[in-house]
Amino acid sequence: SKRVAILISGGGSNMVSLVDSMTGDHPARPAVVLANSADAGGLQKAADRGIATEVVDHRDFKGDREAFEKALISALEPHDPDIVCLAGFMRILTPVFIDAFRGRMLNIHPSLLPKYRGLHTHARAIEAGDAEAGCTVHEVTPELDDGPILGQARVPIRPDDTPDTLAARVLTQEHKLYPAVLRRFAQGDRNPIYL
Ligand code: GAR
Repeated sequence: SKRVAILISGGGSNMVSLVDSMTGDHPARPAVVLANSADAGGLQKAADRGIATEVVDHRDFKGDREAFEKALISALEPHDPDIVCLAGFMRILTPVFIDAFRGRMLNIHPSLLPKYRGLHTHARAIEAGDAEAGCTVHEVTPELDDGPILGQARVPIRPDDTPDTLAARVLTQEHKLYPAVLRRFAQGDRNPIYL
């Protein structure tokens, strides 16, 4: 079965949804959870589930992105991942890392791409008066929040929404979408799915 590395920066709720989906006849299994800070709350959740963890703190590299990414690659190497899932990993990646896992790396982004690349997606969708928001899983390419779309899920934006209430509604969908896309991707199916 395919070995999956999951990269996180925070609480890791998407990581948990991915890990908990990889049971039974699933074509993949979790190999390692890596965080760019020892403070990432998801590390404990991974350890609780018996998953190997690694920390590569970007602050140790003083802005040298290449050195940071080479350290990421070295930390992942012993776990021999076939697939890399970015799950709330809040560092912009350069071709040094992306080329090492080209065609094998997925990201989840909290907007209906191509709308709202980057940060503050929910505030921007509310501000624009959009009727809908959502999340996208896509293949990672060197352009930020670009790359072939593998799946999307939509939610309504309600008149009284704040960025936080909308984020919570979208996150519920993220936890369904990402496992659904990963299962198919691990089987070699790159056709997009729309939940
Ligand atoms: C998720 O909403 C994810 O889509 C977003 O960060 C959150 C992480 O939550 N990712 C990005 O904004 C990527 N630029 P989690 O740690 O609970 O999975």
